[in-house]
Amino acid sequence: RALLRSCPPALLLGACRGATYQSVLEPKGPQSARVHDLWRFALIVATVVFVLTVLATLWAAWAGARRRRAGLPPDLVDERGMTRGVTIATVATVAILMTFLVYDLSVGRTTTRAPSRNALTIEVTGHQWWWEVTYADPSPRGRFTTANEIHIPVGRPVVFVLNASDVIHSFWVPNLSGKRDLIPGRTTSLWFQADTPGVYRGQCAEFCGYQHAKMALFVVAEPPAQYAAWAQAAMSQAPPPSDPAAVRGQQVFMKSSCALCHNIEGTPAGSHAGPDLTHLASRRTIAAGTLRNTRGNLAGWIVDPQRIKPGANMPPNQLSPSDLEALLTYLQSLR
Ligand code: CUA
Repeated sequence: RALLRSCPPALLLGACRGATYQSVLEPKGPQSARVHDLWRFALIVATVVFVLTVLATLWAAWAGARRRRAGLPPDLVDERGMTRGVTIATVATVAILMTFLVYDLSVGRTTTRAPSRNALTIEVTGHQWWWEVTYADPSPRGRFTTANEIHIPVGRPVVFVLNASDVIHSFWVPNLSGKRDLIPGRTTSLWFQADTPGVYRGQCAEFCGYQHAKMALFVVAEPPAQYAAWAQAAMSQAPPPSDPAAVRGQQVFMKSSCALCHNIEGTPAGSHAGPDLTHLASRRTIAAGTLRNTRGNLAGWIVDPQRIKPGANMPPNQLSPSDLEALLTYLQSLR
């Protein structure tokens, strides 16, 4: 009921939103606004064509019925009238399709042409089934990696350099841009800009295996000062654990299988096989947008990821309850 109250008309079009957005129908930047204009134009033209076609069909049926009632024989085929009608319909169809083509290509150009200046570059690598996100600032400490949550400053163009490690994925944040495929061995790119602060949900848009549906991401668009503060924190090392439970949790992490696949800056764990966990606790979700990042969800995920995301690369864990508690405390300290 609450859902209905919050967005009754949008519900019909699947454009419902709660705390986060995911809708092509609510553009939040110049690229998505153009995509939205194209969509609206196509909708209007298609509606007009549909209504005219239905009216013409009804008119023909009504005219035929009237002749029958009057006892007249059916209309003879009027060759010249027929030719004229078919010609007009063909020309109109080609003209409409050509208009769509030209408009579509021009929208495509806007979203692919590189922005002039001042762009932020972010590398996104698709994995089964999560997103590796690297901020590619060439300055000495500017390069850092995170996962599944991309912070961007509003009002600044962001270039996404896209790659895939295994199969083809597709990067799509509907409120901000169209889609772009991530292809193993071939770099593609896309850029967009967010004009309104907000949290926008993105989704892998190319079937990439069993857990394709659970390959989501969040784009957090924030005012430049807030973004700068986030980036400053994100490029720093994880703070060493202070309380005894977290210290013990770090030891559990380092001697269990966790450290074989994950990276935590400033610790011996340095593998990039799985998502970077340096600032895990600052993220909104875990398992690529599948679960809210709470202690309980984290525990469930660590104990048996296969229950939540069957087929994911992370194996189940047999930690003792006290080791698990300590590990959770440590992970939750990684802000
Ligand atoms: Cu990655 Cu679908």
